[in-house]
Amino acid sequence: MNFYKELELIIEAKEPKEKFDRFYTFYDAFQKEEIIFEEFFVPKKFTKPSYVTICTTVPPQQVPKRSNLTSGEGQINLLHAVAHIEYSAIDLALDAAYRFVGMPRSYYADWLEVAEDEIRHFLMLEELLHELGANYGDVAVHDALFEASQKTQTLLERMAVVPRYLEANGLDATPMILKKLKKLPKNEMLAKIIANLEVILKEEIEHVKKGDIWFKYACKKEGVDEDIYFDIIAKYYPRGFLRPNDLNIDARMEAGFSCSELKVMAKREVC
Ligand SMILES: [Fe+2]
Ligand SMILES: [Fe+2]
Repeated sequence: MNFYKELELIIEAKEPKEKFDRFYTFYDAFQKEEIIFEEFFVPKKFTKPSYVTICTTVPPQQVPKRSNLTSGEGQINLLHAVAHIEYSAIDLALDAAYRFVGMPRSYYADWLEVAEDEIRHFLMLEELLHELGANYGDVAVHDALFEASQKTQTLLERMAVVPRYLEANGLDATPMILKKLKKLPKNEMLAKIIANLEVILKEEIEHVKKGDIWFKYACKKEGVDEDIYFDIIAKYYPRGFLRPNDLNIDARMEAGFSCSELKVMAKREVC
């Protein structure tokens, strides 16, 4: 099995089941060191996300709101939105392994491990969607994560933007959703959603941490200062850090952010 060629097929697989089956076979071969790393491989630029045949893509402001979280519809919208982030994150983790050739083996091991986590996260949420009588693809989605991966074609920018900005934003956002959910009158489905989001939040710290390690590796390799992070984020996200007051300081520190970085993001001393 060829590493990059097979990854390309997994990323391009349009059906979740086909993607996951192919991934598990590939990951098993990778762990047994039965994979050949092609030399001089030139990665493809993907023009469309792999879910185009499953989901209707709309601008972010047109994605259905998850207003009433005690209603089935509100819960489906919330679960679908998170499941879509997870599904996109599968392809993003696979793309991190696919796109950057000639990296140490531990780099590929890290991103394949993340892809495996993201598949599990997606399946957890899909199961709850099924319990509510819904499927992945029932609700319109946006393709902001795919776009971010398309725009960042260097290791330095990819690591800064995808794990160290977008996934890190998730560390701030999930506790707020959890807080909202915990205030609602208790029921079985809400309890399941809360339990799943708590597992995901805990495991996402590790993804950001992997991004942090490889971002710092890329800085060293390029001979640039780690402060370049803020220039990269300003270039792609001129609005910067959206929730300076709600940064998940503990999770971000665990994931590798320094106090001086957190100070810039929060616009005040936080640690
Ligand atoms: Fe995830
Ligand atoms: Fe993740």
